[in-house]
Amino acid sequence: MPLDAGHDWWRSAVIYQVYPRSFADANGDGVGDLPGITSRLPYLADLGVDAIWISPFYPSAHEDGGYDITDFTGVDPIFGSLADVDALIAAAKKIGLRVLLDLVPNHTSRHHPWFVASRASRSAARRNWYIWADPAKDGGPPNNWRAVTGGSAWTFDASTGQYYLHSFFAAQPDLNWRNPNVREAMAGVMRFWLDRGIDGFRVDMIDYLLKDEALRDEPLDENGWYDQPLAKYQLNQRGVVDIMRSLRRVVDGYAGARILLGEVESRLPIDVLVRYYGTAGQLDVLHLPFNFWLLFLPWQSAALERFITDYDGAVPEGAAPNWVLGNHDVPRPATRLGAAQARAAMVLLLTLRGAPVVYYGDELGMPNVPIPPERIQDPWSAALPGGGRDPARTPMRWTRGPNAGFCPEHAMPWLPVGDELEAINVEDQRHDPGSMLALTKALLALRRACPALRGGNLRCLQGPPGAVVFSRVHDDERFLVAINTTAAPVEVPLPAGTSGIVRISSAMDRTGTCTTLPLRAHEACVLEWIPRS
Ligand code: GLC
Repeated sequence: MPLDAGHDWWRSAVIYQVYPRSFADANGDGVGDLPGITSRLPYLADLGVDAIWISPFYPSAHEDGGYDITDFTGVDPIFGSLADVDALIAAAKKIGLRVLLDLVPNHTSRHHPWFVASRASRSAARRNWYIWADPAKDGGPPNNWRAVTGGSAWTFDASTGQYYLHSFFAAQPDLNWRNPNVREAMAGVMRFWLDRGIDGFRVDMIDYLLKDEALRDEPLDENGWYDQPLAKYQLNQRGVVDIMRSLRRVVDGYAGARILLGEVESRLPIDVLVRYYGTAGQLDVLHLPFNFWLLFLPWQSAALERFITDYDGAVPEGAAPNWVLGNHDVPRPATRLGAAQARAAMVLLLTLRGAPVVYYGDELGMPNVPIPPERIQDPWSAALPGGGRDPARTPMRWTRGPNAGFCPEHAMPWLPVGDELEAINVEDQRHDPGSMLALTKALLALRRACPALRGGNLRCLQGPPGAVVFSRVHDDERFLVAINTTAAPVEVPLPAGTSGIVRISSAMDRTGTCTTLPLRAHEACVLEWIPRS
């Protein structure tokens, strides 16, 4: 029986992140939409991913790329309608793709009717749906907490004389999860979408859901600073696990395996991260807490190998690891690591144990696209020079034609599609057996065909300096993966008495049997591993 049949589909699923503004524009207004996504589902099924996660398409004030929601159970007209969501879900089901939606429980838009009601007066019935506090003695913010987006996490509301808390932009007030009405309302939101047949949620910033009730100051270091992922009072309070358990019960109440993929601070220590699975005998929290470390670790064999070993070993028995190489918040791998390195990194992502997430366009090696100042959209650009997060959110490149086939020629895409379209687009790469798209497809096909690559054990082996080498084994199926993280060639001797057959090279130009594997600069290979005879 395959390792990931039925109920356990998510354990080794490849989840593809769609940023709806940038995937495909069906109505020709320069902004991607739901019918656009639906029209491209066959491409994703053919690519070989198992599920898609769609970033928010809900009504929004668009003060944080749709993560500032004004109605959790609606569809923003720029993306389509509820009927379009239903059509998308039905079309995905028909071709065997699962659908995850984005749930943003930590905050709403400041224009959400809940917040409008909450800020109306100190005695408003909804006052306690958000986190309000009196000014400090000097009239300043109630404590020293920082927003992730910079500056104080508090904004003063002159009409009621109190501050409200926002872990992100002031446009995104934090909901008060200590209030049972908030919990019930969010469970209702989940049911609304689960009833429409989705397979689960990617849950935004779960670790911020509870804050220290006494709102104590974060202890500061000698530079007057504190490290956000390690904050003591602002996030990762013990009770968050129980809140996640309650969300888990909502999805578990539905037939089939509906899942929760939860976003946490990106540099969380491994021991904090794995708490969000539950414990070995009781995996009742999140199915998959995100592991973002590949986004930040240096592309160096020693650092990668140490992390892979530590994290894979810390994931509780019976749970599945998660891996991410790119998303809408960080620079693209092709730019962050380099084009050849991004190919090797795709080999790593799709051969590690667990459930990886592939960000749209990374299968083509799309680079960050420079954004001229007058076209910047991301409000974070003030804090992150170079267009904030926009360069990694640019339209998907379908063709080398006008607007990269994302929208009609007469339309103005919401962000520039970039130059050098010739090589980096679906149509051209589809016909090029050496392309990154061909590589990604080959990796996904091999993964599907081979239980060892989907769910087999992982063990890091001693490789030469500069190379990460690990084995994946299930029953008598064995693979070796070797990745050269350097610009110099390295020779990877296979364990004594064993040989390998190259099944995939990141360069897509070699096959053959070997007992020692020469890797070129930035090359990665997947070998079928033949033990001693
Ligand atoms: C998550 C999202 C990010 C958003 C933030 C606030 O980190 O990935 O895009 O800005 O949450 O909702």
